Amino acid sequence: MRKFPPFLVFSIVLCFQSSSFMALKRERTLAMIKPDGIDGNFTDRIKQVILENGFIIVQELMVQLVVENATTFYSEHSAKSFFPNLVEYMTSGPVLAMVIEKTNGISEWRALIGPTDAGKARVTHPHSIRAMCGSSTQRNCVHGSDSSLAAAREILFFFGDISAGAVAVEHDEL
Ligand code: RTP
Ligand code: MG
Repeated sequence: MRKFPPFLVFSIVLCFQSSSFMALKRERTLAMIKPDGIDGNFTDRIKQVILENGFIIVQELMVQLVVENATTFYSEHSAKSFFPNLVEYMTSGPVLAMVIEKTNGISEWRALIGPTDAGKARVTHPHSIRAMCGSSTQRNCVHGSDSSLAAAREILFFFGDISAGAVAVEHDEL
């Protein structure tokens, strides 16, 4: 068998451990179809977009959030003027939470859903999910985790610790 010089082997190993290689990491993120997305019968179309874009759906859970759930989930926005409206919107009907997975899944899902303002999305990102099913800055039909920390927290919120293959957690209020 052909022998490779040690420095070459070392370089290849280094290359595979470099940040560019690590950037191609398989990631799980929390995707959610919000009440207007469910109410408008967009669930199947959104799932189709998810699968067509190479994600797998690892877990899903349809739930009716109550005020305490929505307040906790969006706690980072609790001081914002739109927060009461956001909580009212998120508790206005059932949501579908999904753990989805793909290489670079967190940023890929954010790119797929498009900008927060669905009206702007229709202009700047006409092929995004929010352009398809959202109607305003608030009623934008889908959610996506915006960082790995948020993804971990939000997956835990809906599904508990699924890293060991456990099933969705039972929330009292969910
Ligand atoms: P999300 O967390 O739901 O994926 O949305 P996002 O990152 O694009 O936007 P974010 O700033 O985190 O806002 C969370 C949700 O709050 C509602 N919102 N309303 N000015 C407003 O009325 C306003 N701004 C934001 C939206 O439902 C937004 O998705
Ligand atoms: Mg957000």
